[in-house]
Amino acid sequence: MPSILILNGPNLNLLGRREPGIYGHTTLADIEAMCATEGERLGLAVTCRQSNSEGELVSWVQEVPGRFAGLILNAGAYSHTSVALLDAARALDEPLIEVHLSNIYQRETFRQHSYVSLAATGVLCGFGARGYLMALQAMAAILADADSR
Ligand code: DQA
Repeated sequence: MPSILILNGPNLNLLGRREPGIYGHTTLADIEAMCATEGERLGLAVTCRQSNSEGELVSWVQEVPGRFAGLILNAGAYSHTSVALLDAARALDEPLIEVHLSNIYQRETFRQHSYVSLAATGVLCGFGARGYLMALQAMAAILADADSR
């Protein structure tokens, strides 16, 4: 079964009580449980990690080759600032799907640019917690396409 890594960046550990008008009431633990269930349905083994530290996220992205078939990444605010995460993402051959709960294009201009997007296979934003499930579905389709080639 292919293994997928789901990484969440800074402040996403606060989901459920952080600006619920923007990010909703679903907690990160809820999202991780939903992803495990959806992964099982899709035949994907899902590993979820969260960090507030940019360096730790970079190290986890570097773990992908050889260990995971794909990466789903919500880098939070680091999406908009981190050339280091972009460089780590660019070193991957595996598919990378970027997720944001909110529609970053409806928000402040500084959120409308993502370094991660420059290395992403695809981007999902504005679908709330459901975006992670959509990302897993997209990942399953991408991996199935690659398998059939
Ligand atoms: C976010 C959007 C970012 O701008 C913000 O800094 C976050 C969460 C999202 O999921 O909508 O922390 O990545």
